[in-house]
Amino acid sequence: MSEQPLLKVTIDNITIEVPAGTTILNAARKIGGEVAPPAMCYYSKLQGSGGKCRTCLVEVSKGSEKDPRPMPKLVASCRTTVMDGMEVKNITSPKVLDARAGVVEFLLINHPLDCPICDQAGECHLQDLSYEHGSEGTRFEFQKRVFKKHDLGPYIQLHMTRCILCYRCVFTADQLTNKREHGVLDRGDHAEIATFIEKNLDNDFIGNVIDVCPVGALTDKTFRFKNRVWFLKPMNAHRDCPNCSGKVTLWNRGDEVFRVTARKDEWGEVENTEDGKTAWICNTCRFDKKKTSDWVIEGPREINRHSVISQGHYAGKIGTTQPKETFTAVHDGRQPKLLMDIHSVSEVNRPNIELSLINGPAHSADFNKKND
Ligand code: SF4
Ligand code: FES
Repeated sequence: MSEQPLLKVTIDNITIEVPAGTTILNAARKIGGEVAPPAMCYYSKLQGSGGKCRTCLVEVSKGSEKDPRPMPKLVASCRTTVMDGMEVKNITSPKVLDARAGVVEFLLINHPLDCPICDQAGECHLQDLSYEHGSEGTRFEFQKRVFKKHDLGPYIQLHMTRCILCYRCVFTADQLTNKREHGVLDRGDHAEIATFIEKNLDNDFIGNVIDVCPVGALTDKTFRFKNRVWFLKPMNAHRDCPNCSGKVTLWNRGDEVFRVTARKDEWGEVENTEDGKTAWICNTCRFDKKKTSDWVIEGPREINRHSVISQGHYAGKIGTTQPKETFTAVHDGRQPKLLMDIHSVSEVNRPNIELSLINGPAHSADFNKKND
């Protein structure tokens, strides 16, 4: 069999070779880091996903070696395949950054700003996207959408107001379970995820919709409001499960298992097992096995240093290691976007007070200006 030809593509001035048929997004993911456009609806493990949210827009400044004309509009990188000699701009294109800021503004039009009480906070892709590309204020002056409550059963909580209609959960239910009972109803600003006749979602693998949801629209009822993810310690664990791979991440506090999720990769997608299959997990592993004794613990899970979940957890290759010294070192060589010296802007922090010279723990009285 003849080998598949490799095509040369340059993204943000970095050239790589990828097999024909690769999308720009997947080529950029091969380069990694910030070159990879954000993706709110594309999910490599779900057929047909992508093309809905427009967060992955990129500029194609050269179509191909044969036809070097640039593409007239920004294109969705998750749905556009590379051509030989193509040149693409992602973070190097002001047009892309401007369009992405616009997309974020649109996504936030109806999304409630309830991060402080949302279980997804700390691992929400929309939160990250707004942080990276959003503006600090809103121009939206109208009331946000409200919905009738839908009960999806004992395990999954739907907050329709948070949904960004990415369709990932619909594809998951369709492709992983043998009967799909929910979908997107209505169109335009009336569109919503719903079960057709208030049916519970009760298939064996339906819990995976929680893992694919990029926002807090679908959350785990057995974990709701129990803890913040950044207070928990993610551990790799497995069990001999007759239904699924049994390879999970346990989210512990002390010895208590607060929740069980599938293991996710750096793009927030469920990882593959060694045999190349996606390690989706079954409802029994996810919702019913909440004791440490149910699992064989493999060790702490390595967490991306950019994630708030990594605060306080320094999982190294072997056990626990100290964090590296400098900011750029822990950020994979990247410079901070904005670094504020809070000492110079805060009246509360008093840099002239030497904490090490205070006898015992510091109290508010130690910072009282009257003592100066
Ligand atoms: S509920 Fe979540 S996964 Fe489903 S369409 Fe809405 S945002 Fe996407
Ligand atoms: S990730 Fe490409 S359009 Fe949503």
